[in-house]
Amino acid sequence: MKVTLTAIKADIGSVGGHIRPSNRVLETVENHLRQHHQGILIDYRVSYTGDDIAILCTHTRGVGDSKIHELAWNAFKAGTEVAKDQGLYGAGQDLLKDAFSGNIRGLGPAVAEMEFEERTAEPFLFFAADKTDPGAYNLPLYLAFADPMFCSGLILSPGMFKGFRFVIMDVSHTDADRVIELNAPEDLYDIAALLRDPERFVIEAIYSRETGEQAVAVSTTRLHNIAGKYVGKDDPIMIVRVQGSFPATGEVLAPFHLGHYVAGFMRGSHSGPLMPVRQNTTTSFFDGPPIVSCAAYCVHEGRLTAPVDAFDHPFWDYVREKISEKAIEIRRQGFFGNAMLPFSELEYGGIVKKLEELDKRFVTR
Ligand code: 13P
Ligand code: 13P
Ligand code: MG
Ligand code: MG
Ligand code: MG
Ligand code: MG
Repeated sequence: MKVTLTAIKADIGSVGGHIRPSNRVLETVENHLRQHHQGILIDYRVSYTGDDIAILCTHTRGVGDSKIHELAWNAFKAGTEVAKDQGLYGAGQDLLKDAFSGNIRGLGPAVAEMEFEERTAEPFLFFAADKTDPGAYNLPLYLAFADPMFCSGLILSPGMFKGFRFVIMDVSHTDADRVIELNAPEDLYDIAALLRDPERFVIEAIYSRETGEQAVAVSTTRLHNIAGKYVGKDDPIMIVRVQGSFPATGEVLAPFHLGHYVAGFMRGSHSGPLMPVRQNTTTSFFDGPPIVSCAAYCVHEGRLTAPVDAFDHPFWDYVREKISEKAIEIRRQGFFGNAMLPFSELEYGGIVKKLEELDKRFVTR
């Protein structure tokens, strides 16, 4: 059957700073879905990563469906009321507009969704990150879908020999979506030339060139484009279908051992290594480090299995220790140079005021 996977996430308030949502807020979001999902959803799961709550759901209404988006919006609204009642920090932080208007895109919450004909076995991964932006997924996706040094399937699995089509969005445009389609392997250097700038160019989707099927959907929301100022980091989510003519689960996970430096961390203004963590992990050191969780599922006739936590394994404990070292190393450098983001990212925050004041005191000799 044809099924739609929709994931929608929002930060609607957290305990003790930008750490994690309260249990009451989480329960409220779940209760809202339990009470209102009949006739709309087939199945759903609620989880959190740092201070962001993600709703993953299945249905048959296709992508961009207003009923699905409205249900998530209302669940987050209900949660926000509780967050306000508890005095949580940043209550309703990602709900940037007052009213729902048919589609949750552009209102603040991040969306990743895709519709496809279910395979006999339909394994997929649900990633959720905190304290970073959607470009954080550029490098791991490039390595998992275009580099045989990480994805052995590109040389071992005939279903992948033709490679993958990348849809990349220029997220610097605020008025309309600007996208380019490039094919791996022949456009590999062009893909790399764009992905190297993750604050501007973001992978939105990846398709198999063997079957034409969609493998990846990433949320591309840049909150500062909607708000015009810094209102927290985007904290992106993504769905990745695996196995068969797609990379194996382990090939998609493998690049995350790098702990590559991403934008985010404290006040969304620094570089920090992306740490793979268990679902429902908090943030801590310097409001970070930036974290990413991964829940592995199978879906059949829209029914989800229980999630398996892909980063809950002794191997990743070792990786987390190494990445903690990377985090400490760059933090030793404080505000200086590459440790803090370039002005193009900071211009949505308070430093603009400071530089305007200082500018007046400059003299020309
Ligand atoms: P199993 O024999 O455990 O199913 O492994 C198959 C495989 O190809 C793993 O990448
Ligand atoms: P969040 O987007 O996770 O709320 O992070 C905001 C922030 O500025 C943390 O220091
Ligand atoms: Mg927050
Ligand atoms: Mg967050
Ligand atoms: Mg955020
Ligand atoms: Mg097996």
